[in-house]
Amino acid sequence: MLSKKIEAALNGQVAIEAASSQAYLAMASWAENQGLSGTAAFLYRHSDEERVHMLKLIKFINERGGHAVVPALKQPSTKFRSITDIFQSLLEHETKVTNEINGVVDLCLKEKDYTTHNFMQWYVSEQIEEEALARTLIDKLNLIGNDKGGLYLFDRDLEGTAGGPGATAA
Ligand code: FEO
Repeated sequence: MLSKKIEAALNGQVAIEAASSQAYLAMASWAENQGLSGTAAFLYRHSDEERVHMLKLIKFINERGGHAVVPALKQPSTKFRSITDIFQSLLEHETKVTNEINGVVDLCLKEKDYTTHNFMQWYVSEQIEEEALARTLIDKLNLIGNDKGGLYLFDRDLEGTAGGPGATAA
């Protein structure tokens, strides 16, 4: 059975994953409008994965005797300066998500809720990989600079890149 504190923290995380899904959906739509079809495909998949992260939490909360609350959604940013701006925003967002997840893990230890602590380890690993992937993409974009040919290849390569390591999880 979840304590009220843990239940509230997990519901907070539900809202964060939902917001992530919306944020990446907006990025995908922007990229699609720019003709960056590979980047758009990557971001659409990434948005779907965030929804899976949210669902995994919802199911866990309910299975443990809590009540998972479906949150309201805020309008995410819809305008971006460039593809680099997209991935920098994505990394910034994921860094915040990591901090939130660490907060939940910390609370689990304080509350001695080892079951939820164990469940949250999947999210801890996921964050390491998501941040690493975002950094790799930013490094590539920095190398490419203003080279249109390089950008074309970057976009084409993203077409087949999984949106994140959680693609097959949950
Ligand atoms: Fe669900 Fe991108 O963390």
